[in-house]
Amino acid sequence: MSDPREILITSALPYANGPIHIGHLVEYIQTDIWARFQRMRGHRCWYVCADDAHGTPIMLKARQEGISPEALIARVSAEHQADFAAFRVAFDNYHSTHSDENRHYASLIYERNRDAGHIARRTITQAYDPVEQMFLPDRFIKGECPKCGAPDQYGDNCEVCGASYSPNELKNPRSAVSGAVPEQRESDHYFFKLADFDEMLKAWTGGGSLQKEVANKLGEWFASGLQEWDISRDAPYFGFEIPDHPGKFFYVWLDAPIGYMASFQNLCDSPKGQAAGLDFDRFWSRDSKAELYHFIGKDIIYFHALFWPAMLHGAGFRVPSAIFAHGFLTVDGSKMSKSRGTFIKARTYLDHLNPEYLRYYFAAKLGSGVDDIDLSLEDFAFRVNADLVGKVVNIASRSAGFITKRFAGRLSAALPAPALFAEFVAAGGSIAEAYERREYSRAVREIMALADRANQYIDEQAPWVAAKQPGRETELQDICTQGLNLFRLLIGWLKPILPGTAADSEAFLQVPPLTWADLDRPLLDHQIAPFKPLMTRVEPAQVAALLEASKEDLTGDGASRPGASADQSVPAIDTATPATHLARDPLAPTIDFDTFAKVDLRVARIVAAERVEGADKLLALTLDLGGETRQVFAGIRAAYDPAALVGRLTVMVANLAPRKMRFGVSEGMVLAAGPGGADIFILTPDDGAEPGMKVK
Ligand code: 2FM
Ligand code: ZN
Repeated sequence: MSDPREILITSALPYANGPIHIGHLVEYIQTDIWARFQRMRGHRCWYVCADDAHGTPIMLKARQEGISPEALIARVSAEHQADFAAFRVAFDNYHSTHSDENRHYASLIYERNRDAGHIARRTITQAYDPVEQMFLPDRFIKGECPKCGAPDQYGDNCEVCGASYSPNELKNPRSAVSGAVPEQRESDHYFFKLADFDEMLKAWTGGGSLQKEVANKLGEWFASGLQEWDISRDAPYFGFEIPDHPGKFFYVWLDAPIGYMASFQNLCDSPKGQAAGLDFDRFWSRDSKAELYHFIGKDIIYFHALFWPAMLHGAGFRVPSAIFAHGFLTVDGSKMSKSRGTFIKARTYLDHLNPEYLRYYFAAKLGSGVDDIDLSLEDFAFRVNADLVGKVVNIASRSAGFITKRFAGRLSAALPAPALFAEFVAAGGSIAEAYERREYSRAVREIMALADRANQYIDEQAPWVAAKQPGRETELQDICTQGLNLFRLLIGWLKPILPGTAADSEAFLQVPPLTWADLDRPLLDHQIAPFKPLMTRVEPAQVAALLEASKEDLTGDGASRPGASADQSVPAIDTATPATHLARDPLAPTIDFDTFAKVDLRVARIVAAERVEGADKLLALTLDLGGETRQVFAGIRAAYDPAALVGRLTVMVANLAPRKMRFGVSEGMVLAAGPGGADIFILTPDDGAEPGMKVK
């Protein structure tokens, strides 16, 4: 083992306006596994996090609930921490961006950058809500798409035709907060001059701190030029006032990553940090020898790989050793969906299933790249049952009973198959390397291959036969001792992934917490405790109950990740409850029957559905009207897996004038409800309807 490394790692800070869901957990579980692995290896690894507590959505959500932002963030922080603890995500410290430490470092970093000339002031024109008397972020302005006329589109892009535009191009814009028509008003803003760091950032990104895909993306951003970043917001805003600029606040994204430092400072000042001799400067000074890693989702790379290192450098601090980005989670091939019950909150999951199952499943899927991972619920149950229950735990249960009943819980003094044990020990290096590189799926594959080998050994030795044959007692004890020793290595290697099962196994084996270094020698002539089942099977009924409960969970307070744009993109007021639909989309003026009858609505069968190259939001649907087909582009890509749509019946507007779009001609429209994005629901006629039938 090399000298202990000093490592500080972080996960992205969850927004304090919604619950933790399984999409978030991909990241926290991924990071926690790495932290646990490093600690097992004997390194000094610190894992810190915090709630991301500032910004307009949090301010508005608190207002909506009739409480102070401070009360909201305190409540959400307690919920987040309880969820993380239940999933055994073991932070060394969990703090808040609304903290003294964060105010201190945000001000310091700003002032140092300002004094070095990296801050500019400019007057900008921005949408203003005259009723609420506040400037409106783009996501809080809604109106008709300037390109295709689709109603109820956000101020930055159209979910129907995929067009990007600026909010002042929207037709009939209105504030999503009050419904008022926004005015254009001028205001002074402060900008961080990112381009000052062009060279430094190019050197840093070229130095191996980023995954290949991420480095390529940054190459594109460099090529298109680094823009100044608007770091200020006007009152009213929930955040920190900028020193010397009353009424101006730091934009939430300015102080969010600084929350990593704040949480670490808070740890240093705690009894735990003091006992460990933690020193802030040893980790954050420019000449720090400590390693610093940020685990993040791929949607927030710009902030972490450009703004963050630049701000740190500009303020005289060290930059991260590396950024580890991951992809998003899909469930059964599609984005998590409230209507399908696949928008699963951490708490709802915990009401039905063991957290270790999900930790294992994610680990079995996670590589070191930025690919999305899919939670296939059928595969989830299958893998947990086959691998953990059927292979790993099975080795212990097949061996332990005989040791307890026949040998008073005593293991033999020697292994009958030392070469097999040595073969296992030799595999530990490759497994460690897989963990170190965050190739958890490889680690799991290698461990499961060894679990197969251990079961094969027990099959061949058939202890149940020896148990029935007088005179073979020693042999029986040896076989079971070998089995339990192989189990001990497997559970030791799985410990970063399955901390709960590992702790139960340590109690059963009566050993102190396993470290990686323990996994090269056998446990012999040792007393174990009676075996208790370490894990039960996932039952299909539990998964079904989870989905049902998640459907009932539609409280509309979905948090803002993953898949959110880099800004806080799921504003609190956009979280639809039935009571707010009418408020958000007031009923249209009355029309007479003849006007309605002009719309020719038909039942159509979706015979093909494909993604559209270059259009993130669209699917190209081929609709069969029972004789003729139509091609329609529908803005439903975030909500539906194309394969799952094929064969379905839906309803279309069949006499809409064809519309030429960037990707081809759209010959109609499918009917769908919902605000858009992942929350869009296409209509399905009742059983018995046939393609071509008129809807009237
Ligand atoms: O995207 C998000 O959910 C942000 N709250 C992440 C912040 S990470 C860090 F910068 F604080
Ligand atoms: Zn449009």
